[in-house]
Amino acid sequence: MTDILRRLGAATAVTLLAAGAAFSHGDVAPQPMNTDTLPDLEDPEEWRTENPYREMGDEVMAEAIRIGASGYNQNCARCHGLESISGGLAPDLRFLEAEEYGDEWYVERFISGYTQNGITKMPAFGELLGQKAAWAIRSYIETRPDDAQIEEFSPELMEIRDQLASWAADGTGDSTAAQAKLVEIGEQIETLSGAPVADSVALRAAAILAADPNNFSKAEETLTVGLSAAQ
Ligand code: HEC
Repeated sequence: MTDILRRLGAATAVTLLAAGAAFSHGDVAPQPMNTDTLPDLEDPEEWRTENPYREMGDEVMAEAIRIGASGYNQNCARCHGLESISGGLAPDLRFLEAEEYGDEWYVERFISGYTQNGITKMPAFGELLGQKAAWAIRSYIETRPDDAQIEEFSPELMEIRDQLASWAADGTGDSTAAQAKLVEIGEQIETLSGAPVADSVALRAAAILAADPNNFSKAEETLTVGLSAAQ
């Protein structure tokens, strides 16, 4: 009897140890992502080695970035940094080349995570989140702007923001020139991955004004939030 108890006790201890190893180092369970609005991939079980959304046009890419941003913030940011700007805990993912070479490496880590001497340094995400989530997060990461360039343009961006704020307060204004200026700045801000377009606050604010030239307050808010995140 006592033997059985002891053995049960030992088995429990072993299970707890194993669980402890699996959940050490801030290993929180992956947070599910809703990827329904993204196009399905053929053979979803077969992992691609290159981001499939990159070739599907601007609209799909924009949706992938939107979904990837929240997936990234919930699953990756605590180690790899907000906005994918690493604080040194884990590698800075913005530098992974936005082509097959970088993608292969990315997806390998995403699927398997990383374990060193039995300690999980990065949890495996592949099975739990799946392929659409993987490439949505990849799309977000590869389009992060170079934060040094955002800083360089921040005086000009703040000027535009203040202008938008005063139009919002007055309830009237002409944002045509401001929108053009935002596009001009946005086109000069690069990615660190080599992806052709950076998803910067400048282009985000320009897109808001393109959709509604009188939406001064939303464009202003986007610039304010983006500029404070970049500091
Ligand atoms: C618990 C912390 C942690 C979390 C959460 C985490 N990672 Fe990591 N990740 C690491 C560490 C540590 C490394 C470095 C491993 C190594 O030495 O190769 C790493 C490496 C990587 C690499 C290889 C980078 C390179 O330059 O070699 C990629 C890609 C990656 N992670 C993607 C992700 C993605 C995407 C997520 C979210 C879905 C994520 N990671 C979540 C800790 C984490």
